[in-house]
Amino acid sequence: MSTSATSSASPAMREALRETAEKLFADIRELSFDGVGVTRESYGRRETETGDYLAAFAQSQGLTVSHDRAGNYIFSNPGLAPEQPAIWVGSHIDSVPQGGNFDGLAGVIAGLLCQVSGQHSAAPLRTIAFRGEESAWFGKAYLGSSALFGKISAADLELVQRSSGQTLDECMASVGADMAAIRAGEPLFDKKQVLAYLELHIEQGPVMIARDLPLAAVNGIRGNIRHNRIECLGEAQHSGVVPRWLRRDAMFAVSDLIMRLDAHWKELLERGIDLVVTAGIVQTDPAEHSISRIPGQVSFSLEARSKSADTLEAFYQLVQAELQAVGKERGVRFVTDRRLRSDPATMHPRVCQVLMAACAALGVAHDSIPSGAGHDASLFANAGIPSGMLFVRNQNGSHNPHEAMEMDDFLLGVHALSEAIHTLGSDL
Ligand code: GLV
Ligand code: MN
Ligand code: MN
Repeated sequence: MSTSATSSASPAMREALRETAEKLFADIRELSFDGVGVTRESYGRRETETGDYLAAFAQSQGLTVSHDRAGNYIFSNPGLAPEQPAIWVGSHIDSVPQGGNFDGLAGVIAGLLCQVSGQHSAAPLRTIAFRGEESAWFGKAYLGSSALFGKISAADLELVQRSSGQTLDECMASVGADMAAIRAGEPLFDKKQVLAYLELHIEQGPVMIARDLPLAAVNGIRGNIRHNRIECLGEAQHSGVVPRWLRRDAMFAVSDLIMRLDAHWKELLERGIDLVVTAGIVQTDPAEHSISRIPGQVSFSLEARSKSADTLEAFYQLVQAELQAVGKERGVRFVTDRRLRSDPATMHPRVCQVLMAACAALGVAHDSIPSGAGHDASLFANAGIPSGMLFVRNQNGSHNPHEAMEMDDFLLGVHALSEAIHTLGSDL
Protein backbone atom coordinates (compact mmCIF):
# COMPACT_ATOMS: atom_id res chain seq x y z
CA MET A 1 0.00 0.00 0.00
CA SER A 2 1.22 3.45 -0.78
CA THR A 3 2.48 5.44 2.16
CA SER A 4 2.88 8.58 0.10
CA ALA A 5 0.33 10.87 1.42
CA THR A 6 -1.08 12.74 -1.52
CA SER A 7 -2.26 9.47 -3.07
CA SER A 8 -3.72 8.29 0.26
CA ALA A 9 -5.09 11.72 1.18
CA SER A 10 -8.73 12.19 2.14
CA PRO A 11 -11.14 13.69 -0.41
CA ALA A 12 -11.18 16.91 1.63
CA MET A 13 -7.40 17.16 1.49
CA ARG A 14 -7.42 16.47 -2.25
CA GLU A 15 -10.00 19.20 -2.73
CA ALA A 16 -7.86 21.62 -0.71
CA LEU A 17 -4.86 20.75 -2.89
CA ARG A 18 -6.89 21.42 -6.03
CA GLU A 19 -8.09 24.77 -4.73
CA THR A 20 -4.55 25.78 -3.83
CA ALA A 21 -3.24 24.74 -7.27
CA GLU A 22 -6.03 26.60 -9.07
CA LYS A 23 -5.41 29.75 -7.04
CA LEU A 24 -1.65 29.70 -7.59
CA PHE A 25 -2.03 29.28 -11.36
CA ALA A 26 -4.79 31.91 -11.55
CA ASP A 27 -2.97 34.52 -9.47
CA ILE A 28 0.28 34.11 -11.39
CA ARG A 29 -1.54 34.20 -14.70
CA GLU A 30 -3.08 37.49 -13.64
CA LEU A 31 0.20 39.05 -12.57
CA SER A 32 1.93 38.01 -15.79
CA PHE A 33 -0.92 38.55 -18.28
CA ASP A 34 0.23 40.75 -21.17
CA GLY A 35 -3.10 41.22 -22.93
CA VAL A 36 -2.58 38.19 -25.18
CA GLY A 37 -0.84 35.46 -23.16
CA VAL A 38 1.61 35.51 -20.29
CA THR A 39 5.02 37.17 -20.38
CA ARG A 40 7.57 36.53 -17.64
CA GLU A 41 10.87 37.95 -18.83
CA SER A 42 14.05 36.05 -17.89
CA TYR A 43 15.78 38.04 -15.13
CA GLY A 44 13.01 40.62 -15.50
CA ARG A 45 10.14 42.17 -13.62
CA ARG A 46 7.41 39.59 -14.07
CA GLU A 47 9.74 36.66 -13.50
CA THR A 48 10.70 38.28 -10.18
CA GLU A 49 7.06 39.03 -9.30
CA THR A 50 6.24 35.37 -9.94
CA GLY A 51 9.14 34.20 -7.77
CA ASP A 52 8.19 36.64 -5.00
CA TYR A 53 4.56 35.54 -5.12
CA LEU A 54 5.62 31.88 -4.78
CA ALA A 55 8.05 32.82 -2.00
CA ALA A 56 5.23 34.50 -0.03
CA PHE A 57 3.07 31.40 -0.55
CA ALA A 58 5.90 29.06 0.53
CA GLN A 59 6.56 31.17 3.62
CA SER A 60 2.88 31.14 4.55
CA GLN A 61 3.08 27.33 4.45
CA GLY A 62 6.09 27.17 6.77
CA LEU A 63 8.71 26.44 4.10
CA THR A 64 12.08 28.16 4.24
CA VAL A 65 12.72 30.57 1.37
CA SER A 66 16.20 31.45 0.15
CA HIS A 67 18.01 32.38 -3.06
CA ASP A 68 20.99 30.60 -4.51
CA ARG A 69 23.94 32.64 -5.80
CA ALA A 70 22.41 32.77 -9.29
CA GLY A 71 19.23 34.47 -8.05
CA ASN A 72 17.05 31.34 -8.34
CA TYR A 73 14.44 30.78 -5.62
CA ILE A 74 14.82 27.83 -3.25
CA PHE A 75 11.99 26.53 -1.08
CA SER A 76 13.17 24.06 1.55
CA ASN A 77 11.29 21.82 3.93
CA PRO A 78 11.30 23.23 7.46
CA GLY A 79 14.34 22.17 9.43
CA LEU A 80 16.46 21.32 6.38
CA ALA A 81 19.93 22.76 6.98
CA PRO A 82 21.15 24.96 4.07
CA GLU A 83 23.78 22.51 2.79
CA GLN A 84 21.90 19.34 3.68
CA PRO A 85 21.60 16.89 0.76
CA ALA A 86 18.02 16.57 -0.45
CA ILE A 87 15.85 15.52 -3.35
CA TRP A 88 15.36 18.57 -5.54
CA VAL A 89 12.23 19.25 -7.55
CA GLY A 90 12.63 22.08 -10.01
CA SER A 91 11.51 23.92 -13.09
CA HIS A 92 11.46 27.51 -14.35
CA ILE A 93 9.35 30.60 -13.67
CA ASP A 94 10.08 32.61 -16.82
CA SER A 95 8.04 32.24 -20.01
CA VAL A 96 8.40 33.08 -23.68
CA PRO A 97 6.80 36.39 -24.77
CA GLN A 98 3.03 35.91 -25.12
CA GLY A 99 3.37 32.34 -23.95
CA GLY A 100 1.26 30.01 -21.80
CA ASN A 101 0.95 29.82 -18.03
CA PHE A 102 2.03 26.20 -17.53
CA ASP A 103 5.41 25.85 -19.29
CA GLY A 104 7.81 25.78 -16.32
CA LEU A 105 5.40 27.09 -13.68
CA ALA A 106 3.60 23.71 -13.44
CA GLY A 107 6.81 22.04 -12.24
CA VAL A 108 7.50 24.64 -9.56
CA ILE A 109 3.94 24.56 -8.26
CA ALA A 110 4.02 20.74 -8.29
CA GLY A 111 7.18 20.75 -6.13
CA LEU A 112 5.60 23.19 -3.68
CA LEU A 113 2.41 21.14 -3.47
CA CYS A 114 4.42 18.00 -2.70
CA GLN A 115 6.09 19.95 0.10
CA VAL A 116 3.02 21.60 1.59
CA SER A 117 0.69 18.59 1.29
CA GLY A 118 2.68 17.65 4.40
CA GLN A 119 2.04 13.96 4.08
CA HIS A 120 4.73 12.70 1.75
CA SER A 121 7.57 10.65 3.11
CA ALA A 122 10.18 12.21 5.35
CA ALA A 123 12.57 12.57 2.38
CA PRO A 124 14.54 15.83 2.61
CA LEU A 125 13.04 17.97 -0.12
CA ARG A 126 13.68 21.28 -1.86
CA THR A 127 11.94 23.01 -4.73
CA ILE A 128 14.02 25.24 -6.96
CA ALA A 129 12.42 27.85 -9.20
CA PHE A 130 14.87 28.66 -11.97
CA ARG A 131 15.20 31.97 -13.66
CA GLY A 132 16.10 32.34 -17.30
CA GLU A 133 15.28 28.96 -18.85
CA GLU A 134 13.74 30.38 -22.02
CA SER A 135 16.15 31.22 -24.84
CA ALA A 136 13.60 33.70 -26.26
CA TRP A 137 14.98 36.54 -24.10
CA PHE A 138 18.78 36.39 -24.39
CA GLY A 139 19.13 33.82 -27.20
CA LYS A 140 20.48 31.20 -24.82
CA ALA A 141 18.58 28.68 -22.70
CA TYR A 142 19.03 27.35 -19.14
CA LEU A 143 20.69 30.50 -17.77
CA GLY A 144 19.70 30.03 -14.11
CA SER A 145 20.70 26.38 -13.98
CA SER A 146 23.83 26.93 -16.10
CA ALA A 147 24.99 29.62 -13.66
CA LEU A 148 24.56 27.18 -10.80
CA PHE A 149 26.89 24.73 -12.54
CA GLY A 150 29.46 27.45 -13.43
CA LYS A 151 28.61 27.23 -17.12
CA ILE A 152 27.99 30.84 -18.11
CA SER A 153 30.80 32.19 -20.31
CA ALA A 154 32.02 35.77 -20.69
CA ALA A 155 30.44 35.84 -24.16
CA ASP A 156 27.12 34.67 -22.66
CA LEU A 157 27.20 37.56 -20.18
CA GLU A 158 27.35 39.99 -23.11
CA LEU A 159 24.13 38.65 -24.68
CA VAL A 160 21.45 41.33 -24.73
CA GLN A 161 17.83 41.13 -23.64
CA ARG A 162 15.57 41.29 -26.73
CA SER A 163 13.52 44.31 -25.64
CA SER A 164 15.50 46.26 -23.04
CA GLY A 165 18.92 45.83 -24.67
CA GLN A 166 20.47 45.25 -21.23
CA THR A 167 23.22 42.67 -21.04
CA LEU A 168 22.76 39.36 -19.25
CA ASP A 169 25.51 40.49 -16.87
CA GLU A 170 23.47 43.59 -15.92
CA CYS A 171 20.23 41.65 -15.60
CA MET A 172 21.76 38.91 -13.43
CA ALA A 173 23.42 41.54 -11.24
CA SER A 174 20.06 43.31 -10.83
CA VAL A 175 18.56 40.25 -9.08
CA GLY A 176 21.50 39.95 -6.70
CA ALA A 177 23.43 37.14 -8.40
CA ASP A 178 27.05 36.65 -7.35
CA MET A 179 28.57 38.13 -10.50
CA ALA A 180 32.20 37.72 -9.45
CA ALA A 181 31.70 33.96 -9.11
CA ILE A 182 29.58 33.71 -12.27
CA ARG A 183 32.15 35.66 -14.31
CA ALA A 184 34.86 33.36 -12.97
CA GLY A 185 32.81 30.31 -14.08
CA GLU A 186 32.70 28.96 -10.52
CA PRO A 187 30.08 26.35 -9.70
CA LEU A 188 27.75 28.07 -7.23
CA PHE A 189 26.81 25.01 -5.24
CA ASP A 190 28.05 21.59 -4.26
CA LYS A 191 26.23 19.14 -6.50
CA LYS A 192 26.44 16.53 -3.74
CA GLN A 193 23.55 18.49 -2.18
CA VAL A 194 21.29 17.00 -4.88
CA LEU A 195 20.47 13.37 -4.17
CA ALA A 196 18.14 13.29 -7.16
CA TYR A 197 16.60 15.95 -9.42
CA LEU A 198 12.97 15.66 -10.52
CA GLU A 199 11.09 17.96 -12.89
CA LEU A 200 7.40 17.84 -13.71
CA HIS A 201 6.58 19.62 -16.97
CA ILE A 202 3.78 19.81 -19.49
CA GLU A 203 4.58 17.76 -22.59
CA GLN A 204 4.27 20.80 -24.90
CA GLY A 205 3.64 18.50 -27.89
CA PRO A 206 0.65 16.55 -29.25
CA VAL A 207 1.77 12.95 -28.58
CA MET A 208 0.29 12.30 -25.14
CA ILE A 209 -3.08 13.75 -26.11
CA ALA A 210 -3.09 11.62 -29.27
CA ARG A 211 -2.15 8.51 -27.29
CA ASP A 212 -4.51 9.32 -24.40
CA LEU A 213 -1.72 9.29 -21.82
CA PRO A 214 -2.26 11.66 -18.90
CA LEU A 215 1.31 11.10 -17.64
CA ALA A 216 4.65 9.94 -19.03
CA ALA A 217 8.18 9.49 -17.76
CA VAL A 218 10.80 11.17 -19.94
CA ASN A 219 13.71 9.03 -21.08
CA GLY A 220 15.82 11.70 -22.77
CA ILE A 221 15.96 15.36 -23.77
CA ARG A 222 16.99 16.68 -27.18
CA GLY A 223 20.00 18.96 -27.37
CA ASN A 224 20.42 21.70 -29.93
CA ILE A 225 22.82 23.73 -32.04
CA ARG A 226 21.81 27.29 -32.76
CA HIS A 227 22.68 30.56 -34.36
CA ASN A 228 20.58 33.45 -33.08
CA ARG A 229 21.47 35.47 -36.14
CA ILE A 230 22.86 34.64 -39.56
CA GLU A 231 23.13 37.56 -41.99
CA CYS A 232 22.72 36.96 -45.69
CA LEU A 233 24.34 39.83 -47.59
CA GLY A 234 23.41 40.35 -51.23
CA GLU A 235 22.71 43.54 -53.17
CA ALA A 236 19.73 45.88 -52.74
CA GLN A 237 18.42 47.03 -56.14
CA HIS A 238 15.32 48.23 -57.98
CA SER A 239 12.99 45.23 -58.26
CA GLY A 240 11.90 46.00 -61.83
CA VAL A 241 15.17 46.42 -63.62
CA VAL A 242 17.56 43.64 -62.62
CA PRO A 243 17.14 40.34 -64.54
CA ARG A 244 17.22 37.10 -62.58
CA TRP A 245 20.74 36.17 -63.69
CA LEU A 246 22.18 39.46 -62.37
CA ARG A 247 20.37 39.53 -59.05
CA ARG A 248 21.99 38.97 -55.68
CA ASP A 249 18.70 38.58 -53.81
CA ALA A 250 19.24 37.81 -50.13
CA MET A 251 15.66 36.62 -49.60
CA PHE A 252 15.71 34.09 -52.44
CA ALA A 253 19.10 32.90 -51.18
CA VAL A 254 17.81 32.37 -47.64
CA SER A 255 14.72 30.59 -48.98
CA ASP A 256 16.92 28.36 -51.14
CA LEU A 257 19.12 27.57 -48.14
CA ILE A 258 16.13 26.65 -45.98
CA MET A 259 14.66 24.39 -48.68
CA ARG A 260 18.02 22.63 -49.11
CA LEU A 261 18.19 22.05 -45.35
CA ASP A 262 14.63 20.73 -45.46
CA ALA A 263 15.65 18.20 -48.15
CA HIS A 264 18.58 17.00 -45.98
CA TRP A 265 16.29 16.83 -42.96
CA LYS A 266 13.74 14.72 -44.86
CA GLU A 267 16.46 12.34 -46.03
CA LEU A 268 17.88 11.98 -42.49
CA LEU A 269 14.39 11.24 -41.13
CA GLU A 270 13.97 8.54 -43.78
CA ARG A 271 17.11 6.97 -42.34
CA GLY A 272 15.51 6.94 -38.86
CA ILE A 273 17.60 9.81 -37.51
CA ASP A 274 16.10 12.05 -34.83
CA LEU A 275 16.16 15.70 -35.95
CA VAL A 276 14.04 18.86 -36.02
CA VAL A 277 15.06 22.08 -37.76
CA THR A 278 13.60 25.58 -37.33
CA ALA A 279 14.25 29.08 -38.67
CA GLY A 280 12.07 30.93 -36.15
CA ILE A 281 13.07 34.49 -37.02
CA VAL A 282 13.46 35.71 -40.63
CA GLN A 283 13.73 39.44 -41.18
CA THR A 284 14.32 42.13 -43.74
CA ASP A 285 15.02 45.56 -42.28
CA PRO A 286 11.71 47.49 -42.01
CA ALA A 287 13.61 50.78 -42.23
CA GLU A 288 14.64 50.03 -45.80
CA HIS A 289 12.54 47.11 -47.14
CA SER A 290 9.87 47.75 -49.73
CA ILE A 291 7.70 45.90 -52.20
CA SER A 292 9.80 47.39 -55.02
CA ARG A 293 13.28 46.66 -53.67
CA ILE A 294 15.32 43.47 -54.04
CA PRO A 295 16.39 42.71 -50.46
CA GLY A 296 20.12 43.18 -50.04
CA GLN A 297 20.14 41.87 -46.50
CA VAL A 298 18.14 39.22 -44.65
CA SER A 299 18.81 37.95 -41.15
CA PHE A 300 17.50 34.71 -39.73
CA SER A 301 17.88 32.34 -36.80
CA LEU A 302 18.64 28.66 -37.21
CA GLU A 303 18.15 25.85 -34.75
CA ALA A 304 18.60 22.07 -35.07
CA ARG A 305 17.61 19.72 -32.25
CA SER A 306 18.31 16.01 -31.81
CA LYS A 307 18.69 13.35 -29.14
CA SER A 308 22.09 12.59 -30.70
CA ALA A 309 25.09 14.88 -30.32
CA ASP A 310 26.66 13.23 -33.41
CA THR A 311 23.58 14.04 -35.50
CA LEU A 312 23.76 17.67 -34.39
CA GLU A 313 27.41 17.93 -35.43
CA ALA A 314 26.84 16.13 -38.74
CA PHE A 315 23.85 18.33 -39.59
CA TYR A 316 25.87 21.40 -38.68
CA GLN A 317 28.51 20.37 -41.23
CA LEU A 318 25.75 20.13 -43.86
CA VAL A 319 24.61 23.63 -42.93
CA GLN A 320 28.15 24.94 -43.41
CA ALA A 321 28.43 23.26 -46.82
CA GLU A 322 25.08 24.67 -47.96
CA LEU A 323 25.94 28.19 -46.76
CA GLN A 324 29.00 28.01 -49.01
CA ALA A 325 27.14 26.51 -51.97
CA VAL A 326 24.19 28.94 -51.87
CA GLY A 327 26.58 31.85 -51.37
CA LYS A 328 28.49 30.89 -54.50
CA GLU A 329 25.48 30.13 -56.68
CA ARG A 330 23.49 33.23 -55.73
CA GLY A 331 26.26 35.80 -55.28
CA VAL A 332 25.58 36.36 -51.59
CA ARG A 333 27.61 36.03 -48.42
CA PHE A 334 26.50 34.54 -45.10
CA VAL A 335 27.88 35.87 -41.82
CA THR A 336 27.10 33.79 -38.72
CA ASP A 337 27.13 34.88 -35.09
CA ARG A 338 28.47 32.69 -32.27
CA ARG A 339 27.33 29.08 -32.41
CA LEU A 340 25.44 27.97 -29.28
CA ARG A 341 25.05 24.38 -28.25
CA SER A 342 23.07 22.52 -25.58
CA ASP A 343 23.90 18.88 -25.01
CA PRO A 344 21.27 16.16 -25.29
CA ALA A 345 20.65 14.31 -22.02
CA THR A 346 19.59 10.85 -20.90
CA MET A 347 17.41 10.48 -17.84
CA HIS A 348 18.53 8.12 -15.08
CA PRO A 349 17.05 4.60 -15.59
CA ARG A 350 16.23 4.09 -11.89
CA VAL A 351 14.53 7.47 -11.59
CA CYS A 352 12.63 6.79 -14.80
CA GLN A 353 11.53 3.41 -13.46
CA VAL A 354 10.40 4.97 -10.15
CA LEU A 355 8.33 7.55 -12.04
CA MET A 356 6.77 4.82 -14.21
CA ALA A 357 5.94 2.76 -11.10
CA ALA A 358 4.38 5.83 -9.48
CA CYS A 359 2.10 6.29 -12.51
CA ALA A 360 1.24 2.58 -12.46
CA ALA A 361 0.39 2.75 -8.74
CA LEU A 362 -2.17 5.45 -9.53
CA GLY A 363 -3.66 3.29 -12.28
CA VAL A 364 -2.93 5.98 -14.87
CA ALA A 365 -2.14 5.18 -18.52
CA HIS A 366 1.51 6.15 -19.05
CA ASP A 367 4.64 5.39 -21.04
CA SER A 368 8.26 6.43 -21.31
CA ILE A 369 8.78 9.04 -24.06
CA PRO A 370 11.51 11.46 -25.20
CA SER A 371 11.31 15.23 -24.74
CA GLY A 372 11.61 17.34 -27.85
CA ALA A 373 11.79 20.52 -25.78
CA GLY A 374 14.74 21.50 -23.62
CA HIS A 375 14.62 21.49 -19.82
CA ASP A 376 16.83 22.44 -16.85
CA ALA A 377 16.85 18.71 -16.00
CA SER A 378 19.37 18.17 -18.80
CA LEU A 379 22.01 20.15 -16.85
CA PHE A 380 21.52 17.97 -13.77
CA ALA A 381 21.57 14.73 -15.79
CA ASN A 382 24.73 15.76 -17.65
CA ALA A 383 26.38 16.62 -14.31
CA GLY A 384 25.92 12.98 -13.27
CA ILE A 385 23.04 13.65 -10.85
CA PRO A 386 20.28 10.99 -11.00
CA SER A 387 17.57 12.94 -12.80
CA GLY A 388 14.10 12.28 -14.13
CA MET A 389 11.16 14.11 -15.62
CA LEU A 390 7.43 13.53 -15.44
CA PHE A 391 5.34 14.86 -18.30
CA VAL A 392 1.71 15.89 -17.92
CA ARG A 393 -0.29 15.95 -21.15
CA ASN A 394 -1.46 19.36 -22.27
CA GLN A 395 -3.70 20.84 -24.92
CA ASN A 396 -2.78 23.30 -27.70
CA GLY A 397 0.98 22.77 -27.60
CA SER A 398 3.20 25.37 -25.99
CA HIS A 399 5.12 28.60 -26.51
CA ASN A 400 1.79 30.13 -27.47
CA PRO A 401 -1.00 31.82 -25.48
CA HIS A 402 -3.46 28.94 -26.06
CA GLU A 403 -1.39 26.42 -24.09
CA ALA A 404 -3.77 24.59 -21.68
CA MET A 405 -3.71 21.82 -19.08
CA GLU A 406 -6.48 19.93 -17.27
CA MET A 407 -6.24 20.36 -13.51
CA ASP A 408 -7.15 16.66 -13.05
CA ASP A 409 -4.10 15.67 -15.12
CA PHE A 410 -1.88 18.06 -13.19
CA LEU A 411 -3.05 16.69 -9.82
CA LEU A 412 -2.38 13.15 -11.02
CA GLY A 413 1.11 14.36 -11.87
CA VAL A 414 1.56 15.87 -8.39
CA HIS A 415 0.44 12.58 -6.83
CA ALA A 416 2.83 10.56 -8.99
CA LEU A 417 5.65 12.98 -8.21
CA SER A 418 4.94 12.71 -4.49
CA GLU A 419 4.95 8.92 -4.75
CA ALA A 420 8.26 8.98 -6.65
CA ILE A 421 9.82 11.28 -4.02
CA HIS A 422 8.72 8.87 -1.35
CA THR A 423 10.26 5.87 -3.15
CA LEU A 424 13.50 7.69 -3.94
CA GLY A 425 13.62 8.92 -0.34
CA SER A 426 13.50 5.33 0.89
CA ASP A 427 16.34 4.42 -1.56
CA LEU A 428 18.65 6.98 0.01
C1 GLV B 1 12.43 25.40 -24.02
O1 GLV B 1 11.39 25.98 -23.84
C2 GLV B 1 12.85 25.03 -25.34
O2 GLV B 1 12.99 25.92 -26.19
O3 GLV B 1 13.01 23.84 -25.59
MN1 MN C 1 9.52 26.87 -22.85
MN1 MN D 1 9.76 24.80 -20.05
